[in-house]
Amino acid sequence: MSTDSLYQELVRLRETLENHNYNYYVLDNPSIPDAEYDRMFRRLQEIEQQQPEWQSAQSPSQRVGALARGHLPEVAHEVPMLSLDNAFNEDELTAFQQRVQERTGVTGDLQWCAEPKLDGLAVSLLYEQGQLVRGATRGDGYQGEDITANVKTIRAIPLSLRANEQGEFPERLEVRGEVFISLASFERMNEKALAQGSKLFANPRNAAAGSLRQLDSRITAERSLDFYAYAMGEVTPARQLDNDSHYARLEQLRAWGFPVSRETKRLTTNQACITYYRDLLARRDALPYEIDGVVFKLDAIALQEQLGFVARAPRWAVAQKFPAQEQLTWLRGVDFQVGRTGAITPVARLEPVEVGGVVVSNATLHNADEIERLGVRIGDRVTIRRAGDVIPQVVGVVVDERPANSSAVEFPSRCPVCDSAVERVAGEAVSRCTGGLFCGAQRKEAIKHFASRKALDVDGLGDKLVEMLVDRDWVQHPADLFKLNALQLASLPRMGQKSAENLVNALARSRKTTLARFLYSLGIREVGEATAQNLANYFGSLDALMAASEEQLQEVDDVGVIVAAHVHNFFREPHNQEVINMLTQGERAVYWPEVAPANAASLDLAGHTYVLTGTLEQMTRDEAKEQLQARGAKVAGSVSGKTTGVFAGANAGSKLTRAEQLGVPIYTEAELIKLLES
Ligand code: IVH
Repeated sequence: MSTDSLYQELVRLRETLENHNYNYYVLDNPSIPDAEYDRMFRRLQEIEQQQPEWQSAQSPSQRVGALARGHLPEVAHEVPMLSLDNAFNEDELTAFQQRVQERTGVTGDLQWCAEPKLDGLAVSLLYEQGQLVRGATRGDGYQGEDITANVKTIRAIPLSLRANEQGEFPERLEVRGEVFISLASFERMNEKALAQGSKLFANPRNAAAGSLRQLDSRITAERSLDFYAYAMGEVTPARQLDNDSHYARLEQLRAWGFPVSRETKRLTTNQACITYYRDLLARRDALPYEIDGVVFKLDAIALQEQLGFVARAPRWAVAQKFPAQEQLTWLRGVDFQVGRTGAITPVARLEPVEVGGVVVSNATLHNADEIERLGVRIGDRVTIRRAGDVIPQVVGVVVDERPANSSAVEFPSRCPVCDSAVERVAGEAVSRCTGGLFCGAQRKEAIKHFASRKALDVDGLGDKLVEMLVDRDWVQHPADLFKLNALQLASLPRMGQKSAENLVNALARSRKTTLARFLYSLGIREVGEATAQNLANYFGSLDALMAASEEQLQEVDDVGVIVAAHVHNFFREPHNQEVINMLTQGERAVYWPEVAPANAASLDLAGHTYVLTGTLEQMTRDEAKEQLQARGAKVAGSVSGKTTGVFAGANAGSKLTRAEQLGVPIYTEAELIKLLES
């Protein structure tokens, strides 16, 4: 290949890779599969290695990071990076709005720009002649740290500006925004840390901060940080800002290539701010990233300039905070819970404390390593975090307030339920009870799982009831459930004749199931509902699955070496074979309709991804999901450019809007039923 055409290929690769980032992060519309991105990326690296003189500070290859020596140098901000005043309730917001009305002399309603208050780190990005030349942290507002190499690894941050419609961008532009980590990435990071027995990050903010302020930007590159722009600093020449509203400036930033939160809205009345706050608070847990409030900014730049600043915050903006997700309380004791797989989890017993509107009296301490790392002792003052639907956790200890009579947390060496030995596999962070189904705790959890909604779905068999049945030794194995009779059940406390009969009927009904549900109900390690469905689709029958080798198992979608080994070992274990025999043979056996093993005809929806949203009338979303999956389709939780279609029931919300924005086909429930019946 001639040097000329190699150079052209390099230019094309750089452009395509950055375009892809723009499509992905700014337009939310991925244009090529990740694997293709990776391929082009490697090709770019290859060319640059071959021709080192073509290396450029703006090349997407810089996004892998590099090791810096020494420390992060200081940067002075040309325009100080200020902070925001807070409002802690609706009255404080109204008072703020009134002050703004008075100061501006505007009598009618004011126009506001409402934005989520992202919980990450403020950064400043400087572009000269359209090229990213510097990234800095906020620091004390006047001086920050130079994190140029680190911000370049964040794919949401453009390395060069896109020209606007007039083909222009400013000679010098400073963009401000928040670097943050999505909840999914945060959880992945901590799951990995938990499994490796390394330090957990207390919250997404700390994870983002710890990842960004790294001397070795290769570490930053691995952390999948994200970015939203929310303001401009210096813009030269200023004529490129032919708009007089903050909202319009954010749109301008989007056009130059910066992602701006889709939740950003222009509001035309003061009252609308309250509605916006309530709406976002209600949706807080459903957002893919953590926010700690909303920010209202006066939309008219002229009015912003008129009001100016007081101390270190603008008079024209306010952050209305959400209830905190972290609180301090006292650790009264630690109990050890035994899970379905024998995993022993230390559970903190706390002085009850309200966190984000819910009273918390228990929180997880994860495992022995985490107790050691936190250095926590019984009696300590501890920080509790409760966010979204994740169980509350102890994330910190206030060592200064440790009482004199504090005591160490002793991790048990024998199971607190069955007294079997506790074992810790080398290289794993979890400790497990070795009692298996001999252990009452494991048996209870196994049976709860067996009867749960996504497994055999036994109506009316709640956790408390399972515990009673196991404690009385009426149920040792799942198959024992089907031997229960109404007379016996009616003798239990708080169980009438009628409910006993209902339960017996529900048990009988649950015996008719599907192969996928049955597999899931067995509680094989790492086999969730989706994997169970894939296994059922692929093998068609239990016998074929039980006979499969590890290699054959690995042929199945989403089944790797580890899952294949778990499945294989499970079916080799004589005790498990016995349980399966008890369940599938005899008069009260579990049964399911035969399905043909996977072939092109039976899995006609393979390769399609659907999203279900809103309320369906003829079936539940879970039922629809199950039927779609049985036909080979994937059912995703969020809409993206890769979504085949969205089925929208009544009162569909943001997912429907998203689909409209992305031009993803939208179908009605009637169309869903037609598809499922076809
Ligand atoms: S504007 C002069 N907008 O909140 C106004 N800040 O308490 C400066 N933050 O350090 C900030 N989301 O890290 C603004 N949509 C948003 C924000 C936001 C998060 C953070 C930012 C800042 C802190 C101020």
